[in-house]
Amino acid sequence: MTAVPARYAVFGHPVAHSLSPSIHAAFARQLGVAMSYEAIDVAPEAFANALGVFAASGGRGANITLPHKEAAAELCARLGERARIAGAANTLTFDGTDWVGDNTDGAGLVRDLTERQALDLRGRRTLLLGAGGAARGVAPALLDAGIDELYVVNRHTDRADALVDALGQPGRVHSRYWDDLGSHGLFDCVVNATSAGRNDGELALPMGIVGPRTLAVDLSYGDAAIPFLAWARGAGCAQAIDGLGMLVEQAAESFALWHGKRPDTSAVYAELRARAPSLTTAD
Ligand code: ATR
Repeated sequence: MTAVPARYAVFGHPVAHSLSPSIHAAFARQLGVAMSYEAIDVAPEAFANALGVFAASGGRGANITLPHKEAAAELCARLGERARIAGAANTLTFDGTDWVGDNTDGAGLVRDLTERQALDLRGRRTLLLGAGGAARGVAPALLDAGIDELYVVNRHTDRADALVDALGQPGRVHSRYWDDLGSHGLFDCVVNATSAGRNDGELALPMGIVGPRTLAVDLSYGDAAIPFLAWARGAGCAQAIDGLGMLVEQAAESFALWHGKRPDTSAVYAELRARAPSLTTAD
């Protein structure tokens, strides 16, 4: 009798453009792991049921993308620290009875910046643009990586305040008004975690907040990252980096959680980088 390979999937809406199935398939080939990995498109109102059906039919792990990350965290019986602070889960593991949630986005970002790009995040005075799910996912990891102070700016300041409260490091983490952005001096690192680039929205950013030593990072990739990275280059930032490496690294973190083996990400990253201009953001 041939054993049926364990099932894994990414849930999103829409999810057709997701790169996760091909990334996980490449990792599985590299490490000789037998599994299936599919993309499951499900509307928000049907998400909880679909996750239950998936578990009942052999689902062992799920990646979660927009717009389900917050709902996924709520459906989990237990959450790791990173998902708890984020209030959002991108990696779910079925323990035989319940779903257990984690968030690998922040670890993926930090690994891409510090290992692939060989950048030192320590001591950087950092500005985080946005306070939605993406911002919440990466903020704890940036702090753990040793950045200096973290300034969180969001159009709706109440969300920035809530994120700052959740991070629980008064004196190091601050919420500021978007309109006052120009009055806080230079930042060594600016992370765009807004969805403006995905929604054709404009980001109103003063030039004077960055300088020739500033690292600019957009968590999106493909077309969605172009406006912010163009602004960053025009404003004279030292580096302008998109979220493609983070995408690959968060997938590797998920893969390691599920299969106990960490893939080498360099080949998958190189292949996606070659296709980058035509990619659509949707992990
Ligand atoms: P995600 O999961 O991608 O973070 P989200 O939770 O909907 O999605 O959050 C989107 C983020 O982008 C929010 O911080 C949002 O700001 P508000 O909370 O004030 O709405 C931010 N955002 C979206 N479009 C923007 C724009 N044009 N300018 C500035 N911020 C924007």
